[in-house]
Amino acid sequence: MSDRLFIFDTTLRDGEQVPGCQLNTVEKIQVAKALEQLGVDVIEAGFPISSPGDFNSVIEISKAVTWPTICALTRAVEKDIDCAAEALKYAKHKRIHTGIGTSDSHIKYKFNSNREEIIERAVAAVKYAKRYVEDVEFYAEDAGRTDNEYLARVVEAVIKAGATVVNIPDTTGYCLPEEYGHKIKYLMEHVDGVHKAVLSTHCHNDLGMATANTLQGVLNGARQVEVTINGIGERAGNTSLEEIAMILKCHKGVGIDTNINTTKICPTSRLVSSLMNMPVQPNKAIVGRNAFAHSSGIHQDGVLKNVQTYEIIDPKEVGLDDNAIVLTARSGRAALKYRLHVNGVEVEDEAKLDALYKKFLVLADKKKEVTDDDILVLAGAESAEGHSVKLDYLQVTTGKGVKSVASVGLDISGQKFEECSTGNGPVDAAIKALKRIIRKNMTLKEFTIQAIDKGSDDLGKVHMQVEYDGHVYYGFGADTDIVTASVEAYIDCINKFRD
Ligand code: KIV
Ligand code: ZN
Repeated sequence: MSDRLFIFDTTLRDGEQVPGCQLNTVEKIQVAKALEQLGVDVIEAGFPISSPGDFNSVIEISKAVTWPTICALTRAVEKDIDCAAEALKYAKHKRIHTGIGTSDSHIKYKFNSNREEIIERAVAAVKYAKRYVEDVEFYAEDAGRTDNEYLARVVEAVIKAGATVVNIPDTTGYCLPEEYGHKIKYLMEHVDGVHKAVLSTHCHNDLGMATANTLQGVLNGARQVEVTINGIGERAGNTSLEEIAMILKCHKGVGIDTNINTTKICPTSRLVSSLMNMPVQPNKAIVGRNAFAHSSGIHQDGVLKNVQTYEIIDPKEVGLDDNAIVLTARSGRAALKYRLHVNGVEVEDEAKLDALYKKFLVLADKKKEVTDDDILVLAGAESAEGHSVKLDYLQVTTGKGVKSVASVGLDISGQKFEECSTGNGPVDAAIKALKRIIRKNMTLKEFTIQAIDKGSDDLGKVHMQVEYDGHVYYGFGADTDIVTASVEAYIDCINKFRD
């Protein structure tokens, strides 16, 4: 019989810490529901003390989701734990995730403390959290660089105090797979009472070893893995859920199963990427655009003769459906609603569906085929509806050997403004015209343009970073016209300014 591995998804906590990836509560609920459909066991919904937004999201996710355990992060601090317990009050299954740094550098520089005092604080935090919930997870931050003997003492103490899960994070992504596997093995062999709790992996990808480290952790006894969709997370990211789920599915011989419904992997990946405006690298394992594309002649020939020659996963297993309905200008509301549903977006409200359908028809008139990525972009744009600065119109004249000229019209809280400017290209001209209306000291720091699919009629996605008043703001725009997408992305940044 196979062993069961618990999947702890931290897309909405560690993943959401990525600059520019912040979601509002409605979007987080959408992701949480998709994670529930995907079959994750635990959803880390946020760090409630860190902001009112996080607090509120944990409350709303707790109400919206039924089966998975909802987990809230805290430091080993009583007021954090009080706050997490309050945020979890509606969760059907709840967990508090508390912890403290255990490496010598964390003990010395972060806490100006010593090893014995850290154990006392860890135990006190677990006991305090146990007053609120039965299920308490403890994290030993920077466990990857913590001396194993000391780590074993910490783990033993928190299990005695009632921890049900103990998380061994490789916070800095430093460990080698063999070293991380050995760490878990050491704990399994040296901690008294280790079987009263589940050991969990939490690996970061700074050296590209997060998945390998997680796998070694599992092979050596960990029975929970902390992962994110598309591997997003702090710096180089966390272990990606889809990689671990598919490794265990492909390698049945390992004898470990998860509850993941793998056919939901690609739709969930697209939903997260689209809501977070975080493109997935084309060659990303499992969910990258090219993950199943055979381009060389030899490979294509082999696949045509027998797919097993070059394919270890049937794309249908991860939810890539060759027969997916392609939406066109002749598709109806029901088809649009169905494709959104397949991609994890539920549109129950008829008025919302109507508004979305109108936008869809405009796009379908410009593009022959509207893809899942396109409709996710349209659905995402709905949430920007309440913005105070809106693009009213944009006209650009450009070409080789002439200066580009742009006229921009903005609607700012109902008032109309217009300006024009020349520039060294159409985007430059349009942004200069925009800046003549919004007279603020703002600087464009980063600007990327990406086509979603293929074809000259494709939607272009633009990501921008604009610096204003000491802060960097992240903006996103999508349109079949890349100059419009660029101006929309700049306006998206402006709408996020704090003043
Ligand atoms: O990477 C880490 O150590 C963490 C902990 C807060 C669990 O994210
Ligand atoms: Zn982390």
